[in-house]
Amino acid sequence: MRLDTDFLVVGSGMAGLWFAYRMAKHGKVIVLTKKDDSESNTNYAQGGIAAALSPDDSPEIHSKDTVKAGYGLCNLEAVKVMTEEGPGLVKELDNLDINFSETSGHLDLGIEGGHSKHRVVHAADTTGQKVEWGLIRAVRSSRNVTLWEHHFVIDLLTSNDRRCCGVLSFDRESSEFTEIHAKVVMLATGGLCGVYEHTTNPPIATGDGVAMAWRAGAEVSDLELIQFHPTSFYGVKLDGRAFLISEAVRGEGALLRTPDGNRFMPSYHPDSEMAPRSVVARAIYNELRTRRLDYVLLDLEPIPDKRILKRFPMIAETCKKFGIDITREAIPVVPAAHYAVGGVRTNLLGQTSIKGLYAAGECAHTGVHGANRLASNSLLEALVFADRASKAALKEKCEACPKEKINPFERQLLSIEDPSLLNSLTSSLKQTMWRFAGIVRSVKEMEKGRDRLAKLRNEFEALYPQQSFSPGIKELRNMLVVGDLILRSALERKESRGLHFVEEYPDTSKEATHTILKPVIGAE
Ligand code: FAD
Ligand code: SIN
Repeated sequence: MRLDTDFLVVGSGMAGLWFAYRMAKHGKVIVLTKKDDSESNTNYAQGGIAAALSPDDSPEIHSKDTVKAGYGLCNLEAVKVMTEEGPGLVKELDNLDINFSETSGHLDLGIEGGHSKHRVVHAADTTGQKVEWGLIRAVRSSRNVTLWEHHFVIDLLTSNDRRCCGVLSFDRESSEFTEIHAKVVMLATGGLCGVYEHTTNPPIATGDGVAMAWRAGAEVSDLELIQFHPTSFYGVKLDGRAFLISEAVRGEGALLRTPDGNRFMPSYHPDSEMAPRSVVARAIYNELRTRRLDYVLLDLEPIPDKRILKRFPMIAETCKKFGIDITREAIPVVPAAHYAVGGVRTNLLGQTSIKGLYAAGECAHTGVHGANRLASNSLLEALVFADRASKAALKEKCEACPKEKINPFERQLLSIEDPSLLNSLTSSLKQTMWRFAGIVRSVKEMEKGRDRLAKLRNEFEALYPQQSFSPGIKELRNMLVVGDLILRSALERKESRGLHFVEEYPDTSKEATHTILKPVIGAE
């Protein structure tokens, strides 16, 4: 089947939905999403959205904090744009009946590591879910937007003059393949931390957008910069993801201790529990390794019970289900892969290196986060750059590609997947990434990791040749591509900086450079 539209969006998280919401006034928009409409990283965001909204704050101060956390690698222009345009957009978002938390009639602004001011706008501890629902309501109320759930996007459709003309998609319910052609394609496929064994991301985060953009010939950058969140609930998996204990809990005063009660963060950083995430995650990693611990404890004792229950009702309820009353007991926590700083390389208008292809949100790399993202800056980045992309896409005088110019797809053949085989290959991939591209890295180990991935890939190709397709097969194919891109990028960065720590190169180079990978067309 073939369909045409003006604007095509892949992904229904913050970035995709905001872009669709904006474009709805200007043409027909189709949003494709591979699971239920709300299933996304956005949906699980807890802490909130950072924006300089309090009278004692300003975009300049927010910008300074962002740049300080970014270890010399932030794109300063991108940071300026994000911190200046953010507050107005967050206010606009608030108009979508999201019900952000308030105190005495004003937005209740939280604080997290690396922020020097209270600026985290939140809806208790379910910010992402409220934002997601608000945006879905907004786009569903527009007659110009069609939101298709359970439509798995397989690959981008490109022309022989290197333009993106649409996508090939698979409807999981009817098992039909559809070519959807559009003037502009917005890639908003979110994160890729699903390649790691322990991750806070839901199972949709398989890096499909990065893998398909790479296959289509787009540049990707800084993929080695994976942010590990210091505090996920030890030993608990909810629907395939490690349950996050928000950094906002430390922002309210919670302390990290070893199980024997020793507070260890003051010996690692002057800001203790509020040090940058990379520092806290590595400190916990070090405590676990040197003291042979399974977990450390997050102690909420300094926070009044009333405040705990008002600010973190969902965390309190979830922990209770697993036997922990957080007003009385500390939470056992460990780090987990959380956020991909790198992604498909874009300019400040969301444009990628392929004409007609835009990217925003976690799958994109604007350079705003440098080498270490400041907490709650990613929803803001998704919002600001999706918004900028919506303005740029309008100006783009592109017509749908003429049919004869489009490179034909290799036919996809629907295959029967063997779930136990796929699960076993997926587990091997995740364990390899966790072990060889984790919180602390070494060149030797990363090289071993690449070898292991290559072997896994051979095994996978023997079972599932190029054209064999099912969403599960394609996701694993994408994860193998992304895992290798992470390791390749990590081996290229011959220094330690922010989130990337390599034992052989413990120092930070004077010159800050991005790791840019340019694909060889036709290779994966
Ligand atoms: P997502 O919200 O992940 O949306 C991606 C969409 O793409 C999904 O709808 C998915 O189904 C779809 N998709 C993917 N592949 C395909 C395909 N092949 N075909 C069709 N559809 C596809 N950031 C903050 O700023 N503040 C926070 O408090 C915060 N808390 C977080 C808590 C958790 C537990 C997690 C996991 C992340 C958190 N983050 C937070 C990070 C933030 O949530 C994400 O970076 C952000 O939501 C990404 O938005 P997005 O629109 O780019 O992608
Ligand atoms: C959290 O609530 O700790 C997550 C915030 C973020 O990742 O920005």
